[in-house]
Formats: sequence, structure tokens, C-alpha cells
Amino acid sequence: MTDATSRIADLRTKLNDHNYRYYVLDDPIVSDSEYDQLLRELQSLEDDHPDLITPDSPSQRVGAPPLSAFGSITHRQPMLSLANAMDTDELNAFMDRIKKGLDTDDDVTLVAEPKLDGLGVELVYENGLLIHGSTRGDGFTGENITQNLKTIGAIPLSLRSEKRDIPSLLEVRGEVFMTLSGFKKLNEEREVDGLPTFANPRNAAAGSLRQLDSAITATRPLSIYCYESGEISGASFETHFDFLNALKEWGFPVNPKVQVVKSTSDMIAFHNDLEAKRNDLPYEIDGTVFKVNRMDQRNALGIRSRSPRWAIAGKFKAQQVTTVVNNIVPSLGRTGAVTPVAHLEPVNVGGVVVTHATLHNQDEINRKDVRIGDTVWIQRAGDVIPEVVKVVKDKRLKSAVPYQLPSECPACGHDVFRPEGEAVARCQNLSCPAQVKGRIKHFVSKTALDIDGFGEKLVDQLVEKKLILTVDDIFELTFDDLVNLERMAEKSAQNILSAIQDAKETTFSRFVYALGIRNVGAHLSKVLENYFSGNIHTLMSASTEELESIDEVGPIVAETITTFWSDCANVDVVESCLSLGVQLESVEGPKSEILLGKTIVFTGALTQFSRNEAKAMAEANGGRASGSVSKKTDFLVAGPGAGSKLKKAEDLCIPVLSEAEFLEMIS
Ligand code: IVH
Repeated sequence: MTDATSRIADLRTKLNDHNYRYYVLDDPIVSDSEYDQLLRELQSLEDDHPDLITPDSPSQRVGAPPLSAFGSITHRQPMLSLANAMDTDELNAFMDRIKKGLDTDDDVTLVAEPKLDGLGVELVYENGLLIHGSTRGDGFTGENITQNLKTIGAIPLSLRSEKRDIPSLLEVRGEVFMTLSGFKKLNEEREVDGLPTFANPRNAAAGSLRQLDSAITATRPLSIYCYESGEISGASFETHFDFLNALKEWGFPVNPKVQVVKSTSDMIAFHNDLEAKRNDLPYEIDGTVFKVNRMDQRNALGIRSRSPRWAIAGKFKAQQVTTVVNNIVPSLGRTGAVTPVAHLEPVNVGGVVVTHATLHNQDEINRKDVRIGDTVWIQRAGDVIPEVVKVVKDKRLKSAVPYQLPSECPACGHDVFRPEGEAVARCQNLSCPAQVKGRIKHFVSKTALDIDGFGEKLVDQLVEKKLILTVDDIFELTFDDLVNLERMAEKSAQNILSAIQDAKETTFSRFVYALGIRNVGAHLSKVLENYFSGNIHTLMSASTEELESIDEVGPIVAETITTFWSDCANVDVVESCLSLGVQLESVEGPKSEILLGKTIVFTGALTQFSRNEAKAMAEANGGRASGSVSKKTDFLVAGPGAGSKLKKAEDLCIPVLSEAEFLEMIS
């Protein structure tokens, strides 16, 4: 074996073991970043030795080319569904039916499992290797979503064999789901990016699995718990519980809450206990599942047309109750969406006291005709904010009048804007205090101004200490502002300052995207950059008609942009950024190539030209001006009084020019 072959094998074993510890044993021993480092090492070795790549290598989870459509896969054995028991009486009746069917007076041993609210999938392994995976579909034929399933870290690409022999064929069924925290984070990111949010974790998981480009699925926080088999050749089990244990040994995650129950009272206790705890779980469940444990008893009971006689789903009570709407108050989300909130007479829903419920938007208020003083049904599901479901019209007071949201932002008083065809009214004011954190986090993010080291915690601290009110304040931060923050070393403060300095040299498209104008994403910002040749002032004064004439800009986006600029506060923020040194690189090509590929740093008090002119001259000749000296700097132009940058350049043996020498060079 060559060094590369053995290191690749070693890395694969390590990565698979870490995955197993993380997803199956719930006992990780490395951090995410250590894991990523091993994965990157593997990827780079495989880049150098493509002949050594195998389909089950941990590197092969991502990178498959996008599909134009999903193929279909017929399940060897149909994927059945479950009959429902709506209450504990019906669970009792299930046990009675089982006893009758098996002709016994004794309670039958069952396996009790949480019923996850996700998407049922099937994974097929031949000789230990994941061959394909599919959705349940109509139970007989599903969609081939192998590429997407492979991106889910919890799904093994090959089976572990150290504890148990690998069967020649193994079909495993399980539920793909999104955790509540993953769901919340995904929706927050989508809000910031102006994308529609998912209504619940189940929809988010379904939408993620239905992507034709698995690179998108790979970014979604999906997981799986496995709970049944399809066809198996080369292994057999006396009980379902044995099968679940085998699944774990082969490397599949199995819900740790699964347990054996031996009597009707155990079964009901499990159901009630899980129902009481459902809102504390990190994922959504909509009931319990009870399955006969012994395989011979399952076979004796058999199946109905679409569901087995040996299993039942115990449904939880709907988390809905009635209460009174004491008031309707508009509130402003982090991304400027005005959301009407019903302030309720406090009421207990599934063990939690609820005092507020969302009414979503004006259209929803109109549709449900919710008025102050109404008695309403409200519902709560998992971590999702409670919502008003419907009004009890019989209990309406004569004095109740239809509710209309005000046209001003509840946080800053600026006019809100509701594009035609959209349900949500938004405040577009860049200085709106309720949106500051969200706007700044977006402004500094990777695709926007990409300010290195400017993380969420830093933004939170700076806003809370009122050091930043609007995005332009970032460019006025001083060393003292930063170094006085909690857990901020001098070196980090310095690094952040130079990152801010570097970020000032940006492009029109990054800057426009960074402003977070609704519906103006990274791509549209590029479209605008091309049309306006990188001139922000022409964009700022463009009319709705002119904007609409641009390919890819529709009437809604055009109007969103012009209303954005009609708020003087937004114009002020942009002008302030420009006057604080933000420079939007021209999209025109350089005039000469004298400085092609060269990075130049200007320092000291420049006397012959301004810093902006210096940068423009560097760029006009094919070079790039940077704010800090590093090994990548090609030369330093030093004016009078140059200090630490000059010293650093000398230490690194980087050539130093005077202003005159620089002018001579480019003349
Ligand atoms: S067993 C023959 N176990 O519920 C039984 N299903 O309503 C087949 N589900 O399609 C399924 N958690 O997508 C089983 N622990 C669990 C489950 C579970 C969720 C889903 C599954 C199935 C649906 C049936």
C-alpha cells in the first residue's frame, strides 16, 4: 500500500467512526471543525488520487451533478401506512384485537416508538453498500432521491461490520426530519435572504429532499431515525427489538426513546408520558407507534390492504383551545415584516400557558375576520409560535369592528410598504431599531461585505452597547470601541479593524446585496451592477419604469427598489458609507496592465493624491489596493509619517516606493 492509499483508508475509518459516535451512539469525541479538517484532508488526497475514490467514501456525500428530474423506484415490498388510535380507549381496543387475533388472554409484548413527523424513506443496501434511496410515494413506487439522501450525515453510506455480519440485501425504512433548532435557523436565514419561509419542520424537510440539486439539500439540517425493514436477505430476527439493535450495530440511528412495553398499562403510560413531553423534544412528533415485537406473531396477524394488523399509531390530542383576543398589536420582525399579534387571555395549551398568538398578516386577519374581543381557537405545535385558527362567531360582541393594521412601522414610524401580490407589509428603513441586528448580520455576511471575524455575537454586543445603530456605523468603529467589549483581545480587535478596512474595497453588487433590499439577492445585485455599470448613484435615482425595463427585474422588485430610495434615511446611510471610505470597484476593465495581479498597500499621509485616487489608479492599471501588509503584498507606497505598515513591509522584504516613484511607475 502506498502512503496515500493507507492514509485514505485511515481517514475514511476515522470519519465513519466519528459519524457513528455522533449519530448512533450520541457520544461524539471530536468537534465539528476537527471532523471537517479530516474530511478536507481526505478530499484533497482524493483530488490527487481520483482512482482511489469509492462510492461510499465520506467525501462522496456531496458533489453529484444536479438532476433534471427524479427517476422512480418500485419498492420490493410496499411501504405500508399505519392505522390510527385517536385516544387511549382505541389503544386498549388495539391490544384486545391483537390478543384475539393471536388467540391468547395474555398481553402481547410490543415495541413503543415515537411517531416522527417527517418523511418516510427507504434505503437499499447491497452487500453493505448504499445502492439507492427513495421516498415512500404511493407506497408502491417512490422517487429516486439517492443523491439527496447521501448528503444526510446520519445515513451510513456503507454498513459497519465489526459487531454483526452484513446481509447481502438490506432495505431499511426510516423518517427523515428536521430538528426544531435547525428549522428555526433555516427560516431565519431565509427571511434575511428574502426567501419564503417554511410553515413547519415537516415542510422544510420535504422541500429539502425534493431538491434536484443535492448541493442545496446538503446545506439543510436533515436527520433520520430508522424504524422498519423492507426486504432482507442474509439476516433474520426473532423480534423487532433485535432488529432495531442490529440497525444500530450496522450504523443506523434509532430513536433512543424506543422501548419494549409488556402490558396495556405500560403502553398507555408510554403514550401519555410522550404526549406530556412532546414540546420538550428537539423534533416534532405527532403520536406514538406500537408494534408487535415478535416476528412470528406479526406474521400470524398479517396485513390489511394498506396497513399491518400488528401496528398502530396513537395520535396525540390536537393542541387547540379557545380563549379571548384582548388586543391586536402590530409587531416588527427582525427582517422588517409587520406581523399582527393577538394578545390573549392567558390559556393553558398542552401544559404551556399561552398569552400571544400570531395572526400572520392583514390577509389572514381578513380571511379569518379576527376582531378585538373575539373568542378564538388557538393552536400550538412544537416550538412554533401559537396561531389563531378561527373565530367562534357565536360569541362575537356587537361592538366588535374589523381590524386594520396601521400603515406606519410600529418600531420606527416610517411608512411600511406592501408590494402588490404580497401578503406581508414591511418596513424598509435601514435605520429601523427593531431590525438593526438582522441588517448588520446580513451586511457583514460572507456573500455581502464579507467582514472577517464579524460574527453574530460581536454584532449583538455592538448593538446592545449602542456602538452601532446603522450599518455605516461599522466604518466608524475604533480600536477602543472593540477592545472594551467582553472577551476581545487586542489582537482580535486589530484584526477586525483591518478586516473592516479591507471590506471597504468592495463591489457594487456586494454592497447593494448587503443593503438587504427585499427581493434583491446576490444574483439580482449583479444584474443591477451590469446595467448601472457599477454606479450606485444612477441606481439610486433610477425610476420604476427604468428599473422595470431591465431584463430580470419585474414590477414588484422595481417598486421595492424605488420605495427603498424614497426613504431619505436609506439614502443617508449609503452616502455615509461612501464618505467613510466604502469604494465600489468599477466594473470597467483596467486601462493598463502595468500592475496586473499586483497588490499594493498605501500608507502614511499621502500628499500627491488621495487614498481614493490611489486605489483608483492602482485598479486602472490592473492592480488591487489593500489595507493591510502581508506576504501577498507586492509593494508598499509610503507617504510621510508611515509607521507600522512600513516596518512590517521592511521586515517582509517587500519593496517600498515613494508617491513619486509610484506615479512614475504607472505613467
Ligand atoms: S412504521 C408498517 N414507525 O408514519 C409500518 N412509521 O402513518 C410502517 N412514521 O409512513 C411505518 N414514525 O412515515 C413507523 N416509528 C415509526 C414512525 C413511522 C413515523 C411515519 C412513516 C409512515 C407513517 C404512517
